Amino acid sequence: MRTVIVGASSGLGRCLAIGLGKRGASVALLARRREKLEDAAREAGTDAIAIGCDVTDEAGCREAISEAAGRLGGIDALVYATGIGPLARLTELDAATWRNAFDTNVIGASLVTAAALPHLEASRGTAAYLTSVSASETPPWPGLGAYIVSKAALNKLVDAWRNEHPTVGFTRVIVGECAGGEGDAMTGLSAGWDPELASALFPTWVGRQYMTGDLMDVDDLIRAVETVLRCGASAGIPSIIVAPRKVSST
Ligand SMILES: NC(=O)c1ccc[n+]([C@@H]2O[C@H](COP(=O)([O-])OP(=O)(O)OC[C@H]3O[C@@H](n4cnc5c(N)ncnc54)[C@H](OP(=O)(O)O)[C@@H]3O)[C@@H](O)[C@H]2O)c1
Repeated sequence: MRTVIVGASSGLGRCLAIGLGKRGASVALLARRREKLEDAAREAGTDAIAIGCDVTDEAGCREAISEAAGRLGGIDALVYATGIGPLARLTELDAATWRNAFDTNVIGASLVTAAALPHLEASRGTAAYLTSVSASETPPWPGLGAYIVSKAALNKLVDAWRNEHPTVGFTRVIVGECAGGEGDAMTGLSAGWDPELASALFPTWVGRQYMTGDLMDVDDLIRAVETVLRCGASAGIPSIIVAPRKVSST
């Protein structure tokens, strides 16, 4: 399975790239931080490749996907794990932060998909996009507006791609809380958060049971994503939820 993983330098994308590589997929790892990518590629297997890609750069997306397809000899599967989750109350969210969230979480996903589409059509392959329980299964978590609204848009984007291109599988992978692994494999999503604001919001997230402290095992995510990708377009799985527990909907 010739697989491109975008957002593979840290966290869940890195775990997926290494996990899929170890399970026999030929993987191309894409993200901006080259050193971390190369390090992850070494763990993913001897034929794994690292390619620099900033998803907010349209031409860069095309070049990176073209290089990945050339070096893998085609693309059977695409995983979009790229994501940023800025923490700010809605009154404090400036236009640049909104734009960056949409550029990274939504528009980048579409640009990468457009570049990969001819290869996915040729292989009747599958594309899977990591989205969040907070965008569909729970009410919006206070402080994560830009993240949640952009992930909700990503959910629709996946449906839009499926409706325009039915010969390719397009799947939303709705993820619950997951720490990832150790070191660079640990989630970096909260790395830039203001600790004071995070401490102020945390009791609300816990009190409303959006957060329970239960963490999903990253190996379960890897197995679930692998199943979706290996099923291919003919199975047509529109979405799966991989979460540690029943998520609160109140
Ligand atoms: N961890 C969780 O509990 C959880 C829960 C639900 C959903 N998710 C979703 O899972 C995905 C991975 O999250 P994570 O927790 O593993 O976060 P993470 O460790 O911060 O990983 C984010 C990845 O996105 C890449 N990225 C960010 N901006 C980029 C850009 N402009 N161009 C290319 N790559 C970019 C980063 O690489 P570079 O900085 O090197 O470019 C990194 O590889 C996200 O989509 C997130 O929404 C995570």
